[in-house]
Amino acid sequence: MDHFLYRDGALFAEDVPVADIAASVGTPFYLYSAATLLRHFQLFDDALAGVDHLVCFAMKSASNQAILKLLGDAGAGMDVVSGGEYARARAAGISGNKIVFSGIGKTRAEMEMALTGGIRQFNVESEPEMLALSAVATDLGVVAPITVRVNPDVDAKTHEKIATGRKGDKFGIPISRAREIYAVAAKLPSLKVIGIDVHIGSQLTDLAPFKTAYEKVADLTEHLRADGHEISRLDLGGGLGIPYAIGDNDRPPLPAQYGEMIIDTLGHLGCEIEIEPGRLISGNAGILVSQIIYIKSGEDREFMILDGAMNDLIRPAMYGAHHDIIPVIEPPAGVDKTPYDIVGPVCESGDTFAKARDMPPMNAGDLVAFRSAGAYGAVMSSEYNTRPLIPEVLVMGDQFAVIRPRPTYDDIINRDTVPEWL
Ligand code: LLP
Repeated sequence: MDHFLYRDGALFAEDVPVADIAASVGTPFYLYSAATLLRHFQLFDDALAGVDHLVCFAMKSASNQAILKLLGDAGAGMDVVSGGEYARARAAGISGNKIVFSGIGKTRAEMEMALTGGIRQFNVESEPEMLALSAVATDLGVVAPITVRVNPDVDAKTHEKIATGRKGDKFGIPISRAREIYAVAAKLPSLKVIGIDVHIGSQLTDLAPFKTAYEKVADLTEHLRADGHEISRLDLGGGLGIPYAIGDNDRPPLPAQYGEMIIDTLGHLGCEIEIEPGRLISGNAGILVSQIIYIKSGEDREFMILDGAMNDLIRPAMYGAHHDIIPVIEPPAGVDKTPYDIVGPVCESGDTFAKARDMPPMNAGDLVAFRSAGAYGAVMSSEYNTRPLIPEVLVMGDQFAVIRPRPTYDDIINRDTVPEWL
């Protein structure tokens, strides 16, 4: 459930008409609902209420500091994957002991940054990384808490580009070699092994692959304990999927069902449980609002040309992802719909959001909203075609604020420097 609903024929974000925000901010822009973000976080927190746990928001999905502060104040930790994300989380007031550092290519500089600034744990993904972290921690005279991310060789049955837990994927260490690698870790100076980490992919719509992976983690926990390691924390990654199309009957499992399965599978081990959800918290808490520039008739189809483009929302071009696109003024019930190819102005045919999408009659100047755009939307945007990054706006109740302003053309072009010798 989210808080983007029609009221008296107009789309609202919580208690604010979306058209009012568009008039004030200009289009295109991202719009988030604080109530929806908090509700989704709370669903996970409640789902694990029976066990010692921390919900670490995967901030790669939406990293504006206003969002981080909102979730942090509600009790969330953060899952970061770069020095930049670490710095953002800290700037948003998240304390180091609630930040977990994931990712396969942490640099020594990033390790040093997190060890100096404070970190809950590093999720280490290889032996060379382990050696580097041990050396950096030793140089700093500190101890680095670690889990090792294992690759359980489980097919998450999701989009090829976001499956991460099969043996050919670049993530984690093969679970078959885990005991050997934990033995190495235990001997390295300045590392403290505290647990196991796993993440098998994103936008999973079935609990079965999670369960298979978590059963393997349960087994491994017992083996590692028998080998003398203290395994007190399990980081189970993120990945629970969301419905992208209204009326889709194939609804992904709910956080409560996910939490129940986690406790069933792993609860007996007495470990602290961490999860790293991103999309389920932020995805349906954000929309992208865009204006129709032209309706154009092609040889055999109608094109709806928007002011938003693939640089603003790359998911359709990159993954063939579906986003519902709805008019900001509610169409009359039962109105005839016609198919449009909905496209942006960027000079690539790939800049197509939807083909033959049935839409009610619409005109240039009308506003549309892309639903489910809060995760992996703004964070994956670029300035391709020298199009300014679009603003982000947060609504809470009847108030809204721009949480990232639209840069001017000068802001963008003044970042370039032309060498004197040219
Ligand atoms: N933890 C780790 C280690 C991850 O790699 C990810 C996502 C998450 C947690 C959060 O997963 P989530 O709960 O959001 O599914 N850009 C793609 C998604 C990439 C996901 C990358 N890793 C998209 O737009 O669909």
